[in-house]
Amino acid sequence: MSKPIRLGIAGLGTVGAAVVKLLNERQQRLQAALPRRIQLVAVTARDRTKDRGVDLSGFEWVDDAVALAVSPDIDVFIELIGGETGTAYDAVEAALRSGKSVVTANKALLAHHGTELARLAEKSGAALKFEAAVAGGIPIIKALRESLWSSEIRRVYGILNGTCNYILPLMMTEGRAFDDVLAEAQAAGYAEADPTFDIGGFDAAHKLALLTSIAFGTEVAFDDIYVEGIENITPADIDAADELGYRIKLLGVALKTDAGIEQRVHPTMVPKHSAIAEVNGVTNCVAVDGDDVGAIMLVGPGAGAGPTASSVVSDIMDIARGDRTPAFVRPAADLVPQERARMRAHEGAYYIRMSVYDRPGAFAAIAGRMAEQEVSLESIVQRRAHRALPGIDAGRAPGELTNVVLITHPTTEAAIRKALEAIVADGHIVHKPQMIRIENL
Ligand SMILES: NC(=O)c1ccc[n+]([C@@H]2O[C@H](COP(=O)([O-])OP(=O)(O)OC[C@H]3O[C@@H](n4cnc5c(N)ncnc54)[C@H](OP(=O)(O)O)[C@@H]3O)[C@@H](O)[C@H]2O)c1
Repeated sequence: MSKPIRLGIAGLGTVGAAVVKLLNERQQRLQAALPRRIQLVAVTARDRTKDRGVDLSGFEWVDDAVALAVSPDIDVFIELIGGETGTAYDAVEAALRSGKSVVTANKALLAHHGTELARLAEKSGAALKFEAAVAGGIPIIKALRESLWSSEIRRVYGILNGTCNYILPLMMTEGRAFDDVLAEAQAAGYAEADPTFDIGGFDAAHKLALLTSIAFGTEVAFDDIYVEGIENITPADIDAADELGYRIKLLGVALKTDAGIEQRVHPTMVPKHSAIAEVNGVTNCVAVDGDDVGAIMLVGPGAGAGPTASSVVSDIMDIARGDRTPAFVRPAADLVPQERARMRAHEGAYYIRMSVYDRPGAFAAIAGRMAEQEVSLESIVQRRAHRALPGIDAGRAPGELTNVVLITHPTTEAAIRKALEAIVADGHIVHKPQMIRIENL
């Protein structure tokens, strides 16, 4: 057997410690499938004294991650620190520059610097692998890169953030408000102390940026993603969705259209009986629509120590087998700049909920504004009426308010936005209307 492939791991937190454990405990099994032995030789983190629940005694401790990244004692650098910039970026860049292959779980780093780092890797003949960065334990990168490669992909989408997918179903089953469920998710460890990244949709957008690049052969274009979080979803929306036969999910969608590539992350209504509607809790899923292969969906744990470590180790195994496929499959020089389809060009059906002053002419005016933009309505549901709240536009709105839910037929986002602007200006409603896109599945 040829020389072992020597690994250095930077970051020994949730994922890093699990990778060390997996390499320690599964050496024999891994070896059975590889032409070279995998040997962890050195590690680094911030605090050398911390008990990480794994035996580190056999490995060299290096104080500085960048020094480890370029150490002549390692062949592959495993970055499990996290963060878009700072040490993670410096160390990965240094490793690739010095010709060392890199495995990382860091979606933020790749969403912002993916194309540049892929170029660097190719220049020095190194591999850059990131299976764990997208949907944790789900092997979607490998599936796209290998098994599904021959199919022309039209759409890739999925539930890419476990925190949101934990919160939304709980709001439904327990009829609780967003803030309340979020606080519980934080206490249970399913949401970060600062949850903005997850609930604001940015974490899902990082992952979507990487999927889009591989699926469509484009440069990684995180800044081109339309991002909307789940903060404004209310129990009223969840109830209405349920009544109308839908579930609300935070979806990431990348779609090839005549106007370019749509990349979007937003709360989405999906049919209650679709497979994706059944994916709940911290489970993730990624679905691919391809011309030959049809529809494929992979479901599994989107995060967590074990699943993420399993993806990291699968990348290490590929490198040990000699795989130097470019990071985004096509050589970085062949990745094309993304032609972004504007969100206003998005076509689909919409759910609209608004609180309407119950007075003569209000409904006719709303329907008229929709008609002006050629938006036709599939259904109108008038939900429970309630008293106008004191202080809400009291001068103009004595009397009752009615919660009205509209489902439109497919239209453009430009048309729906114009119609809603006019409806707001007419003054028949209180609050901003709620608008949720319906995905055609
Ligand atoms: N956790 C998951 O389920 C999951 C899933 C998919 C992807 N990921 C990605 O995996 C990466 C790691 O996540 P994690 O959850 O394992 O994070 P974590 O538990 O916070 O661990 C981060 C590790 O990095 C070390 N570190 C921080 N700054 C450092 C520096 N300047 N130099 C050297 N080491 C440094 C920390 O050291 P100390 O321990 O000494 O403080 C810690 O061991 C992130 O990119 C994350 O997005 C995580």
